[in-house]
Amino acid sequence: MMKIGITGATGQLGQKVIEKLTKETAAENIVALVRNPSKASGLGVEVRAFDFNQPENLASALEGIDKLLLISGNEIGKRAEQHSNVINAAKQAAVKYIAYTSLLRTDNTSISLSDEHLETEKMIKASGIPFTFLRHGWYTENYTASIAEVLKTEALYGSSGNGLISSATRSDFAAGVVKVLTTDAHINKTYELAGDEAYTLYDFAAELSKQTGKDIPYVNLPVAEYEQALVKAGLPEALAQFLAGSHVSTEKGDLFENGHQLSELIGRPTTSLKDAIAEALSEFN
Ligand SMILES: NC(=O)c1ccc[n+]([C@@H]2O[C@H](COP(=O)([O-])OP(=O)(O)OC[C@H]3O[C@@H](n4cnc5c(N)ncnc54)[C@H](OP(=O)(O)O)[C@@H]3O)[C@@H](O)[C@H]2O)c1
Repeated sequence: MMKIGITGATGQLGQKVIEKLTKETAAENIVALVRNPSKASGLGVEVRAFDFNQPENLASALEGIDKLLLISGNEIGKRAEQHSNVINAAKQAAVKYIAYTSLLRTDNTSISLSDEHLETEKMIKASGIPFTFLRHGWYTENYTASIAEVLKTEALYGSSGNGLISSATRSDFAAGVVKVLTTDAHINKTYELAGDEAYTLYDFAAELSKQTGKDIPYVNLPVAEYEQALVKAGLPEALAQFLAGSHVSTEKGDLFENGHQLSELIGRPTTSLKDAIAEALSEFN
């Protein structure tokens, strides 16, 4: 049987991937590759220590792994080097396949995160290991996670204008990952993955208002003002700058994608905004 290794298995996407993967293949075929093994005891699969910052330990941890899912790390600015450590180790351990969670149109986007994703894709190609690039659009949770805050301030602030967002939930993206890991025909392919439905932040606020019975407007601010508001709300300067920048990219259309490749891959429509908001609201009711 093919052994599948999953990095970032204790992260939000990784946990969903493990949960879905154990329904498609026996648990003994799955290895969670995690930076903190004590966080992974509940996953129900073999756990191996795997810290991207410890290159000397990575190749031995990949022993016997046929397929590797590299979930991109979350330390912005350090990821190209971290991912390079993983790819070198995969080569050394004769891993036969790498699936990588990249960013939507990472070769042609204004989203500031794209450099490290593109660099990682190039390193994987250069390694000669067969691959699939899962270029993920925005997670719907990027917006639903702040619903409690939005309800408190009774307004949704942003700088995305009428930019359309084709987001999908982590669960939708995890289903796509599992499909690619457990079925053939994805070798050396690059998928642009996003939700079926596209909405603006005006639409988001209108749906939230409808479901809560409250009048919650979307307030579109000039980008400098939005960035300042984020800093005032307590966000570190660099994060505020990144988030504000992502709204500018949204207005430019960089989060819009109409190819429906994710629903095609998973064989069902992606989760609607209506359902994602309802689910988020149910969590604090
Ligand atoms: N498209 C989007 O909207 C969007 C949104 C958020 C994130 N992302 C990207 O997608 C990835 C998965 O998302 P997520 O929501 O699951 O993020 P997450 O919960 O932050 O998960 C990131 C995972 O990376 C692991 N990690 C970080 N540094 C590591 C290191 N040095 N060595 C080994 N593992 C390390 C973390 O380990 P621990 O569990 O030990 O912390 C965690 O499991 C993120 O890392 C990010 O690249 C995309």
